[in-house]
Amino acid sequence: MFTKMNVIGKDIVVDVVDDCTKPCDVISKIAVIHDLEEKDDAFFVMDFGDIVNKFEKWEALLPRVHPFYAVKCNENPAVLRLLAALGTGFDCASKSEIKEITDMGVSPSRIVYANPCKPNSHLKFAAQRKVSLMTFDNEMELQKIRKIYPDAELVLRILTDDSTAQCQLGLKYGCHPQHAPSLLRVAKELGLNVVGVSFHVGSGCRDASAFSDAIQSSRMVFDYGSALGFDFQLLDIGGGYPGQSSAAISFEEMAGCINQALDVHFPEGCGVRIISEPGRYFVASAFTLTLNVIAKRAVARDIQTFHVPGSEDLVANTVAPSQCDEPAYMYYCNDGVYGSFNCLLFDHATVQPSLLKKMLLGEPKFASSLWGPSCDGLDRIMENCLLPELHVGDWIVFEDMGAYTMCAASTFNGFPKPICYYMANESTWNFLKRIMPCPVEMEPAPPPCNTKCFSDSITCPTMRSGLSIPHLERGDHPTVMITPIPIVPDVDY
Ligand SMILES: Cc1ncc(COP(=O)(O)O)c(C=O)c1O
Repeated sequence: MFTKMNVIGKDIVVDVVDDCTKPCDVISKIAVIHDLEEKDDAFFVMDFGDIVNKFEKWEALLPRVHPFYAVKCNENPAVLRLLAALGTGFDCASKSEIKEITDMGVSPSRIVYANPCKPNSHLKFAAQRKVSLMTFDNEMELQKIRKIYPDAELVLRILTDDSTAQCQLGLKYGCHPQHAPSLLRVAKELGLNVVGVSFHVGSGCRDASAFSDAIQSSRMVFDYGSALGFDFQLLDIGGGYPGQSSAAISFEEMAGCINQALDVHFPEGCGVRIISEPGRYFVASAFTLTLNVIAKRAVARDIQTFHVPGSEDLVANTVAPSQCDEPAYMYYCNDGVYGSFNCLLFDHATVQPSLLKKMLLGEPKFASSLWGPSCDGLDRIMENCLLPELHVGDWIVFEDMGAYTMCAASTFNGFPKPICYYMANESTWNFLKRIMPCPVEMEPAPPPCNTKCFSDSITCPTMRSGLSIPHLERGDHPTVMITPIPIVPDVDY
């Protein structure tokens, strides 16, 4: 079954499935269709319901903290549009992110420009778009802001302990709380409007007490501010929340710690508005990536070495016939570290493959490694894993691939970024129809056409036809169309 939702002038086709259908079922269906069409493209499946659930969980567990989604984490327009409709704010790091969000019709009051070191031209753009809330952590930035946007509402980003985080940010940003008074004094002398304090405990925070300590430090800086005549009204507790169930710490535990610290240092009724900048929390588990095995070779399990004649070099020979009864296998896939798996390098991520094909009872497993498609030896997804023997054309699935993956992917060596398919369970879809404006029902499913996959600007000519192949299982729901509506309902906070 098909639904169609128009987002910012481009089509997003959403496969609406019954409430029992899981992303893995949709992935299997797409893989079968790709096989039938002899397509081997890697693809993402994004589940709208996963993000809606995350939003509801946030509201339930951190009711005092208003989330401003960190756009840098995944700027897929379906994600942005959904979060805008749900009422989150947005953390933008640059002119282009500010443009993307304000072009959607989101009020500038729902944006925090959370980059303490901004190019002049981007700052000018923020001023043009009236995005006034922004962070700073150094004196030069204050001088710049005074010249370009003197009416901005400034948030002092302080340094916190991020030593246990997956990605540390304190090396680059944050004013040590002890230096806050002197920086605030400069702001005062320049006549600037400092409205609050922010911090970031590091992306992929593994220690909830980092939040407690940072909230305590923020309180101290609020008191410095009062002593200098400022009236701080905003606390921004940054990002760092887990986005997937396999994370080292649960969101529940983290939220408990945050609430406790807020109750002590910023109790309800204290007049301080609390916001945050979650990135991976909202998107990590909503995206599943499926790769195709494009090439394979059996290698010797025990690497043999030999000297190249006339050279001093010792070469590891991984292509010699195996000395061992059991071979090991190298599998080459159509996405790698220059694409979505850049997260292995930049985000220090670990990934977990699973297979679409059914394993037979007692089927042997072999030492295997997974590689990306580029010609670079660095392009390795997994060094060593145990897998049943795979074949060219098999599909490998990676869950939890929504955070810091496609946003930094390249097309190095000419390999395209994966296309993205969208799914929603029926109850989620009914909810989306309520919060996104003007749904119009449409029958029947549209014929094949050139659908532009908006997320990566790759033309995907068979997307609809593929998904609507009749002999595959399809629900008998009506097809729904949401007509082009440029502006999401706006809420000022
Ligand atoms: C300023 C800022 N805010 C928010 C985030 C989002 O962090 P996370 O995805 O860990 O929630 C980042 C990530 O780097 C960041 O730099």
